[in-house]
Amino acid sequence: MQPSQLSSGDVIADRRADYARMLDEGGEPDAAAELMEQALELVPAWAAGWYRLATYQEKVGKTDAAVEAYRRTLELDPEDVFGSSLKLALLGDTETPAQPPSRYVERLFDDYADRFETSLVEKLDYSVPQKLAALVASTGRHYRRAVDLGCGTGLLGPEIRAQVTELEGFDLSQNMLAKAAEKHIYDHLAQADLSLASEASGLFTDGARHRADLVTAADVLMYLGNLESVFAILDDLAIAGADFVFSVEDGGEGDGFSLAPSLRYAHSQSYVEGLAAAHGLEILDIVKTTIRKDGGKPVSGILFLTRKTD
Ligand SMILES: C[S@@+](CC[C@H](N)C(=O)[O-])C[C@H]1O[C@@H](n2cnc3c(N)ncnc32)[C@H](O)[C@@H]1O
Repeated sequence: MQPSQLSSGDVIADRRADYARMLDEGGEPDAAAELMEQALELVPAWAAGWYRLATYQEKVGKTDAAVEAYRRTLELDPEDVFGSSLKLALLGDTETPAQPPSRYVERLFDDYADRFETSLVEKLDYSVPQKLAALVASTGRHYRRAVDLGCGTGLLGPEIRAQVTELEGFDLSQNMLAKAAEKHIYDHLAQADLSLASEASGLFTDGARHRADLVTAADVLMYLGNLESVFAILDDLAIAGADFVFSVEDGGEGDGFSLAPSLRYAHSQSYVEGLAAAHGLEILDIVKTTIRKDGGKPVSGILFLTRKTD
């Protein structure tokens, strides 16, 4: 169930909200917004309802009203499962958060897990696992222990398994991890949050520091804005000489990262190069390529093959 479909607990409000959704899907977001306002008069503390109202208002260009409704959602849902803080930033109401709310990303992928592979691979031409695996293969190395960060349903595992003795996978979403477990490809799977400090991340609960000679992150860093936490985790995870192979969405010129209307972050090449240099990583290869489609359009990405020098 999508968070925006969560019940209000009031039958009449739910019925109005259902009808509002039908109106919106039928191309009448204005009427949908009116009906959601009526539903919210019955259940004013319904966070999911405020979120839906905000999206309808946004669609009809009522930006101020949408901002109010997103703010209201955030007040009622401080963990920000709905990602209202990202919406508020995109509407110019607040600064772009350095990182998205973890509960939002976790919920997004928990909801998405069952249809992730069909929608991403079959419909959106998702190709990052194969392309990163080609970079891994280009080293000609055999790795003792690989750690796949944000492993999701485990699409990268089979691509690199032949080059790896032990393979660990970590992800924020338990439902994505459950899908990965069904593949029987990973030796160890566990929950971790890459936005947290190394010791709180979950990466070192069962495993030692400096244990990996290959670390991968396929299509993950776009769900993290500021990548300092990820590179700090890498410092603790990787041994000297380890390879770190990962993708970002191409943020173009500049030396930072930005939040896109897709609610994903894009990172510039020079931002990543700066972090790599600061964390003792030599860049061995950079590939600019299409990583998937979004709304029918190709999404440009940058793939990095880097090696820890110290
Ligand atoms: C687009 S999927 C890619 C999954 C997999 N790497 C693949 O290539 O199929 C992004 C994954 O990153 C995970 N993720 C996002 N933010 C994360 C975080 N802060 N910590 C751990 N995993 C995260 C999500 O749960 C999701 O499974």
